[in-house]
Amino acid sequence: MIIDVNSSQGTYQIILKRGSLNDIKKYCDFNRKVMIITDEGVPKKYLETVKSQCKLSNEVIVKQGESSKSIKTYEYCLKEMLNNNFNRNDLVIALGGGVVGDLAGFVASTYMRGIDFVNIPTTTLSQIDSSIGGKVAININDYKNSVGSFWQPKKVIIDLNVLDTLSERHYNEGLVEAIKHGLIRDPKSFELFEQGNIKDNIDEIIYRSLLVKKDVVEKDEKEMGLRKILNFGHTIGHAYESYYGLKDYYHGECVGMGMMKILKNEDIKERLKKILLKLNLPIENDASPDKVYEYALKDKKTNKNSITIVEVNEIGKAELKDISLEELKELII
Ligand SMILES: NC(=O)c1ccc[n+]([C@@H]2O[C@H](COP(=O)([O-])OP(=O)(O)OC[C@H]3O[C@@H](n4cnc5c(N)ncnc54)[C@H](O)[C@@H]3O)[C@@H](O)[C@H]2O)c1
Ligand SMILES: [Zn+2]
Repeated sequence: MIIDVNSSQGTYQIILKRGSLNDIKKYCDFNRKVMIITDEGVPKKYLETVKSQCKLSNEVIVKQGESSKSIKTYEYCLKEMLNNNFNRNDLVIALGGGVVGDLAGFVASTYMRGIDFVNIPTTTLSQIDSSIGGKVAININDYKNSVGSFWQPKKVIIDLNVLDTLSERHYNEGLVEAIKHGLIRDPKSFELFEQGNIKDNIDEIIYRSLLVKKDVVEKDEKEMGLRKILNFGHTIGHAYESYYGLKDYYHGECVGMGMMKILKNEDIKERLKKILLKLNLPIENDASPDKVYEYALKDKKTNKNSITIVEVNEIGKAELKDISLEELKELII
């Protein structure tokens, strides 16, 4: 399956095909140097498969986890490229989850004022969400994604077979973004989570989820309006992430609990709860509401006495709404 995504930097293709990792040279121009950026947790066999298809490649294997989205690691990648004489016509490949994708994409966007970038996402979250839309970034201290750019990939190669090695917990938490895509824009996709075994429907779930993300980012590439609906569940979700210091819960888990808090429609809430439980994901936590509220206020979407949130009152329809800080507090409690 090939999905075209239009952007101001040109149209790129998402190749969604089981086994495509063995075939990437069919989709990429490898008559040049290739820098592969991956992390220690991504099984080595995937790196070997990519390397075996390149003529000339180098690799940087960073530590796993959010700490690799740092200035230090970014600088290290750039120096490796300079030391190995990469020029403007060469290529950067991200092989890994959202951490590697965001880091490698930012490296590609700035090296010699920008060079080609191919993303090979290997987690559910990165296949569904972070590899599409061109947002690339690193963190400064605790300020997540505070330095970044919009840099569209030349290709996104999604091989669902690589998900076989992902831990059950990462696999499931990443799917929360697909549940979110269903809630904001695609009722059929939401229903797929309710029917039978989720893994049996995974090909269709990821395909439909990609179509939602494509549609939204094509209509609003730079997040001037519509793209904000992708933040559904994230205002309170990010506050949970800050509260727990990115330790006890993963991003998707926090977004799931954030969606549970923000939903007002009891029927939708009950349906979401069943899906989260089916995926062994948390539906609530023991965070102090007052502290969570404080963290939510630090969220960048706050302006004085109100905050913009995303509401879903009917599955498939999302609306941006300004609510008072008092209303936000009531939602959190
Ligand atoms: N750019 C965007 O639009 C966007 C959107 C959402 C999230 N993000 C970013 O994505 C990041 C989170 O991404 P993530 O959830 O993919 O986490 P991650 O990149 O940390 O990957 C999770 C873990 O899985 C391991 N792993 C990756 N692929 C594997 C595989 N196939 N088999 C076994 N293990 C594997 C990794 O080593 C890592 O330890 C965050 O930094 C977030 O800010 C970016
Ligand atoms: Zn998210």
